[in-house]
Amino acid sequence: MNELAKDCERILFPAETIAEEVKKAAAWLDARYEGTMPLAISVLKGSVIFFCDLVRAMKTPVQMDFMTLSSYGSGSSSSGMPKIVMDLAAPVDGRDVLLVEDIVDSGHTLVKLKQLLGGRGAKSFTVVSLLDKPSRREVDVQADYSCFTVGNEFIVGYGLDYDQRYRNLPYVGVLKPEVYEK
Ligand code: IMP
Ligand code: MG
Repeated sequence: MNELAKDCERILFPAETIAEEVKKAAAWLDARYEGTMPLAISVLKGSVIFFCDLVRAMKTPVQMDFMTLSSYGSGSSSSGMPKIVMDLAAPVDGRDVLLVEDIVDSGHTLVKLKQLLGGRGAKSFTVVSLLDKPSRREVDVQADYSCFTVGNEFIVGYGLDYDQRYRNLPYVGVLKPEVYEK
């Protein structure tokens, strides 16, 4: 077992299961966006692996853009106050915005993004998230489409990190609590 895998308590969603769910999400988006070219935004860094697989599974032409928000520092609980670290390159005005997230946890990040991009005059706004962690929600918000629901556990892999590690695990797993408790 490799260095990253040994810190995983258990695998929740293996790579093959994720690939199947990504295909379903892409088909859902293709139906929704027929005849348009959405501005697909990856919220870095957590969503980037999901994003790359998702846009390649879609048949709709997309423009890609990237944005970085701060939220967790190196801890495992949300600060609740996300800020823009790196903004989009493209204007949002009049665009069909497809926002791609890794996980909706407290919901603060999503609320902030909706306010921000809504304020820039997006024509429509659709949120797809790899994971949903509803038990931790602090604000009433949800993605339009989530591939998987998870419980109140700390998740890593397939883009999700703890202290910038584990993003390159090919599956989604639960981090051993002793890793973040030490
Ligand atoms: P929020 O609490 O909904 O604002 O989520 C903010 C961000 O925290 C997410 O986009 C993730 O990048 C990160 N996050 C939340 N829960 C987890 C987790 O279980 N593992 C890794 N990152 C997480
Ligand atoms: Mg994120």
